[in-house]
Amino acid sequence: MMALLCLGPSVVQAQERQGVKVEFLGTNNTMIRITGEGKYLMLPIQDNGEEATLNLLVDGKQEKNFTARLAKNKVDYMVPLDLSSYRGKHIILDVISNQSRATVREAQGDACWKNIAMSDTFDISNREKFRPAFHHTPDYGWMNDPNGMVYADSLWHLCYQWNPYGSKWANMTWGHATSRDLIHWERQEPTILPDGLGMIFSGSSAIDHHNSAGFGKDAIVTLYTSAAASQMQSLAYSTDGGNTFTKYPGNPVITMETEARDPNMFWDEAHQQWVMLLAHALEKEMLIYTSPDLKQWTLASRFGKGMGAQGGVWECPDLFELPVSGSTGNEKKWALVCNLNPGGPFGGSATQYFIGDFDGTTFKADTDTTGTIPTKWMDYGKDHYAAVSWSDAPNNRRTVIGWMSNWQYAAEVPTLQYRSANTLPREMGIFKDTDGQYYLSSTPSPELEALRGGLHHQSRRFSLGKSDNTISLPTHNDGICEILVDLEARKGQVLTLTLANKAGERVVLTYDSDKETLAFDRTQSGIVNFSQDFPAVTVAPTHRHNGKLSLRIFVDRSSIEVFEKEGRLAMTNLVFPNSPYTELSLKCSKGKAKISNLKVYSLNTKTK
Ligand code: FRU
Repeated sequence: MMALLCLGPSVVQAQERQGVKVEFLGTNNTMIRITGEGKYLMLPIQDNGEEATLNLLVDGKQEKNFTARLAKNKVDYMVPLDLSSYRGKHIILDVISNQSRATVREAQGDACWKNIAMSDTFDISNREKFRPAFHHTPDYGWMNDPNGMVYADSLWHLCYQWNPYGSKWANMTWGHATSRDLIHWERQEPTILPDGLGMIFSGSSAIDHHNSAGFGKDAIVTLYTSAAASQMQSLAYSTDGGNTFTKYPGNPVITMETEARDPNMFWDEAHQQWVMLLAHALEKEMLIYTSPDLKQWTLASRFGKGMGAQGGVWECPDLFELPVSGSTGNEKKWALVCNLNPGGPFGGSATQYFIGDFDGTTFKADTDTTGTIPTKWMDYGKDHYAAVSWSDAPNNRRTVIGWMSNWQYAAEVPTLQYRSANTLPREMGIFKDTDGQYYLSSTPSPELEALRGGLHHQSRRFSLGKSDNTISLPTHNDGICEILVDLEARKGQVLTLTLANKAGERVVLTYDSDKETLAFDRTQSGIVNFSQDFPAVTVAPTHRHNGKLSLRIFVDRSSIEVFEKEGRLAMTNLVFPNSPYTELSLKCSKGKAKISNLKVYSLNTKTK
């Protein structure tokens, strides 16, 4: 008898569960057919896994193409793919994993397949101990730059670079939140989604008061970068107050041979034109364009080649005019904001700016007494990036918000459900210092005073010596608080303020009145070992020259922002203490220094 060997085609292995049928088509291709009801397909993610490419096919037509780190060994968290608008249709998710698998059987063992399911709900309740209590964060997923900020119909719109499918950078989409008071942020549907021209990188919005583009009077107009193989600039608009956006069919409106991104525009009333700055990233310059209608753009001038900090790519520009505080007459100056990565003063990303004059075509930066253009920083911490301002803010306010992280380690910080928060919103001003130079000032937006809960501590005036003067910090709401203090040092005195917890984790602020600097040491602040770039000491010039320094310090669950009372100094640093700081200790290196108006407010939690 001859044994019959059957070598026919192998049968596709399938697993069926909770509204999905998973078919294994090969070592790196799996097809998920939606067989049941539900609003979301829940995707299991392994935060450090490799990216798979996912194609969403609805009745055979590709609706979405995105990447996700589908879980191989363990599921760190789930993300929802909203399928509600395709009900009743044939839905297939075609997954191409880029991981090499020796056999189909091995591919079948991946953790994600056991967890993929349809669901009507997605739980966004916070699971993170480090999630800020009064800073904006996305409910889930990765966030970087703030985008398209505009004030319209009493609402502050804040869009942001968002990955809806994981807590690392990918699939750039404009997430969207709105607020009436810059404290409570309400999540809205994402405004601008990737399309055939690519992902949606950073950009800006403004109100078209004159209907210059023809989309309607007071339409919200938006310029953003379409990013795929190249970077191009595209236009979109909203005629329903920023709820939904329509992309201009003639996109892209600007193309070029080199990388350029993050268009930031404003209506220039004096010259009846739109002015737009575009970061010519690798050339480390800003391109200045003008347009009558947002569609036809003319390159008017270039700014910045070889100027200021040049250690990294130039990104996320902004340009605005402000009155000079304390000036007699009506002196005004222009500020050109240029975010830079890397090349910041303490490594990685940071926000530099130039002060000068703008005539509708050209920006001319002020020089110092030696004829050079000085490098100026908006914030002297490590975690202040992509800062740009709101358009059309009320009362001529120039309100700025940044991304509170650093490209050096943003993807590694110890959170999972979401990654990154925004800084506190800040009001910009311009002041002239004794060196004859103009500088930007940053003060916390006045709305933030409403966060104050009880006055936890108050001491009016005392002298400070070499031994620690220690007060307790509030403990409820995980110790979130605002600290105000006036320091008065004499020559040669160095004052330290230490925030510490029982485990000895601490942040040390050092005021050196001779050097006129304030330093922020987070080397022992808590969890610091997720990146060698995280432990750091950042140092700021105080721009105060009489030994007196009034500080305002905001302590949230994973950040500390320090401001000089008049905004002459701002410093933003993330911290990840294993438990909240419970004590504040002050001391002086020698002699006696004066401390007055030390106040600690506990703060209310207002945001997610
Ligand atoms: C700045 C940046 C921008 C770009 C965006 C992409 O952080 O690199 O230049 O538009 O992030 O997410």
